[in-house]
Amino acid sequence: MAELLRLKNICKGFAGIPVLKNIDLDIQVGEVHVLLGENGAGKSTMIKIMTGAYTKDEGEMFWEGKKVEIKNPSDAMNIGIATIYQELNVIPELTVYENIFLGRELKQNSKFSFLNRKDMKKKAVQYLQRLGQDISPDAKVSSLGIGQQQIVEIAKALTIDAKLIVMDEPTSSLSASEAEQLLETIMELRKQGIAIVYISHRLEELKRIGDRVTILRDGKTIETLPVKETSTDKMIQLMVGRTLDDKYPKEIFQLGTEGLRVENLRLKGSQKAISFTAYQGQILGISGLVGAGRTELARGIFGVNPVETGKVFVFGQEVNIKSPKDAIQAGLAFITEDRKGEGLFLDQTLEFNMSISSLKKFRKSLFLQREQMKKSSEGYIRELQVRPGDIHKHARKLSGGNQQKIVIAKWLCTEAKVFIFDEPTRGIDVGAKVEVYRLINSLVKNGCVVIIISSELPEILGICDRILVMSEGEITADIMREEANQEKIMKAATGGV
Ligand SMILES: Nc1ncnc2c1ncn2[C@@H]1O[C@H](COP(=O)(O)OP(=O)(O)OP(=O)(O)O)[C@@H](O)[C@H]1O
Ligand SMILES: [Mg+2]
Repeated sequence: MAELLRLKNICKGFAGIPVLKNIDLDIQVGEVHVLLGENGAGKSTMIKIMTGAYTKDEGEMFWEGKKVEIKNPSDAMNIGIATIYQELNVIPELTVYENIFLGRELKQNSKFSFLNRKDMKKKAVQYLQRLGQDISPDAKVSSLGIGQQQIVEIAKALTIDAKLIVMDEPTSSLSASEAEQLLETIMELRKQGIAIVYISHRLEELKRIGDRVTILRDGKTIETLPVKETSTDKMIQLMVGRTLDDKYPKEIFQLGTEGLRVENLRLKGSQKAISFTAYQGQILGISGLVGAGRTELARGIFGVNPVETGKVFVFGQEVNIKSPKDAIQAGLAFITEDRKGEGLFLDQTLEFNMSISSLKKFRKSLFLQREQMKKSSEGYIRELQVRPGDIHKHARKLSGGNQQKIVIAKWLCTEAKVFIFDEPTRGIDVGAKVEVYRLINSLVKNGCVVIIISSELPEILGICDRILVMSEGEITADIMREEANQEKIMKAATGGV
């Protein structure tokens, strides 16, 4: 192995608070190097320093043995480091090849600035082939699924001859089959000698693709280990400082009455009607590919998206939901997958974010019971292990996973009776996931109805009592826990073919 990148003694802080403490790390040519650590451990900050999005406070970096300064993203790009951000950087209105060459268009000749579209298209196809993909170069990016859009981003990295591609939780917004494709693409890149730095909270993934794993805790690198020779339990232990007895603490409940009934619900612009019933005491999972219509269904029920026809019953009572406000009134809660866009006020405190939807509960005559609000917020912060745990911190300052925990806490705090969770543990570390599942269990125990939309099959199989599978806007299977397995779900998710 030859060394590609080395970080030595890297320190970084925000407003005087140290976040990275004397980080040492080496990346070898052509290896898949996984970064593993709890929410807030410093993974994203660390890769932002490698890719020039942040500058380090102290320490040194070496590229192929020579000292380098990476002060901004173009410095990183110039030496051959590409980044696949979670929020994709593609322009949906442009074609695949236009996106691949965006900013680095091939010209006819140096004198005139006509674009050489023919060459660009040809090269685009070659890059995509190198990734083992047959996406048409002329396709509009908006017509592709998120998984394929990500492949276009990776092809873009090839145009700058990247020797290192950095990916921060790339599979978190993908369906199971899209994630599978991405993992295969990563293995292909590795074969071609490209190194990958990979962050994920999904341990099954890193087991499959990782060569070495570096574990971070509290801004420090704890250990770098070969993946093949390290058990998952050992990784978890190094990461959270203890072992986990059970990743999916499943409890079996007594089946109760009907909680949410949806009858022939047809969303605006869709021809398909959906009917299902969720019961007390039964965690109902909704599985399917990204784009199968799961989030749209939830948004329709919750009054975010317009509904053409159909009826919704909450505990047997028909409700007329025209807006999220009506939905909350009817006792529904919708924990969205998009924490930044819909879930949080980033420039408000954690306490504000956790209490804003429950002000009624905290109000006594004209006054807000501040002490009670504080206690409640502090309780959730403790239970969900939010770090930093200061309720006066602004949400923007939290790591991705910790922000997601605040979104969950906000809804748990309400007095809802029916909870729809959309990808509830996206970006949440293994230790905190268990706490989320425990909170979900306690909701069910208290008589609430819980529906979980998730693209993570182990999660669906691990915690749900019954699973609906959606494909192209329809429910294609309804499977009880005892009968459920990955193959059945995947088959129904792809329309049974
Ligand atoms: N812009 C910022 N201002 C202040 N603090 C920040 C900022 N960005 C990150 N932090 C803090 O730095 C620490 C590390 O955050 P980072 O995003 O690197 O964590 P992470 O390991 O990527 O976590 P996650 O798994 O949740 O994504 C956290 O405590 C976070 O609150
Ligand atoms: Mg992160």
